[in-house]
Amino acid sequence: MYARLHGDGNEQGSVTARVLDGRALADQLRDEVAPEVAAFTRQYGRPPGLAIVLVGENPASEVYVRNKLKTGREVGVRADLERLPGSAALTDVLELVGRLNASEVHDGILVQAPLPGSLGRDAASRVFDTIAPEKDVDGFTPGNVGRLVQGRPTLVPCTPLGIIELLTREGVPIAGRHACVIGRSEIVGKPMALLLLQRDATVTICHSKTSDLAAVCRSSDILVAAVGRTGLVTKDFVKRGATVVDVGMNTVTDASVAASLFPEGHPRLARFRERGSMLVGDVHPSVADVAGALTPVPGGVGPLTIAMLMMNTLRAARARVGASGRSPARIS
Ligand code: GUN
Repeated sequence: MYARLHGDGNEQGSVTARVLDGRALADQLRDEVAPEVAAFTRQYGRPPGLAIVLVGENPASEVYVRNKLKTGREVGVRADLERLPGSAALTDVLELVGRLNASEVHDGILVQAPLPGSLGRDAASRVFDTIAPEKDVDGFTPGNVGRLVQGRPTLVPCTPLGIIELLTREGVPIAGRHACVIGRSEIVGKPMALLLLQRDATVTICHSKTSDLAAVCRSSDILVAAVGRTGLVTKDFVKRGATVVDVGMNTVTDASVAASLFPEGHPRLARFRERGSMLVGDVHPSVADVAGALTPVPGGVGPLTIAMLMMNTLRAARARVGASGRSPARIS
């Protein structure tokens, strides 16, 4: 299974896990949303508009934002980057968000997290609270979170929304199953748990204080790892046949860590030695020998997040112009 997930290196143990290909689904979702974006543009004389606010120069954020802008343009969304320097004050960010709230051409606003630490501890909540709820394509504002808790229609955070879409389209049963979510972030863990609960899973949220984490996770049929800890989820966390979703995006630069993830001779290890770094998830690659289905890193959850951002932007645009509240492309 290592082979199917990570190239054709040494195989380890039995081959069981099916690869849940987020990249392929993201391509499909883009193909589905593009004609709907075009129809919106024809009908209203302008494309759905997305403003992305990037404060400072976090290298990972630069990459994510570039990909969001590129995808936006590919599907016909107007995607504008609004940059502020790392030296910006919180009032500058709040002022920019206020201006975007009033913009006629922007239906969605995304403020890329994390914000620079210099803005202060509560900067993120101050900024996200300022975004007009109807333009909150991240689904982070308190009103939208409350609506999600209550199971009412709302803009839902993109990463968990993409995971639900992937599980649904891949035919992974959710109702009546035990789902474990490792991580309780506002962006992934909490909304993920709520979406699984809405679909009638029995949900456990695990975190840094959970005792005997492996045993708790081992009882789950669906395991979502979203903590940002390289290789945390090992085989002993996973029930045979379970579906494992890896939300981790960790850059490894330490050769001993790389060697603990991939066996000698594995192509990914060779590539790491050429480049000096690699992107890995929270799930140890050997989990593929136990899991029934598994999302790879890269190429699993990451591309889906951006596809769902486009869906949310179209949804916000339709709601702003008073079009039917129908969700684009069968997104719940
Ligand atoms: N940083 C990492 N993921 C996200 C996301 O989904 N939305 C925003 N705004 N920032 C992020």
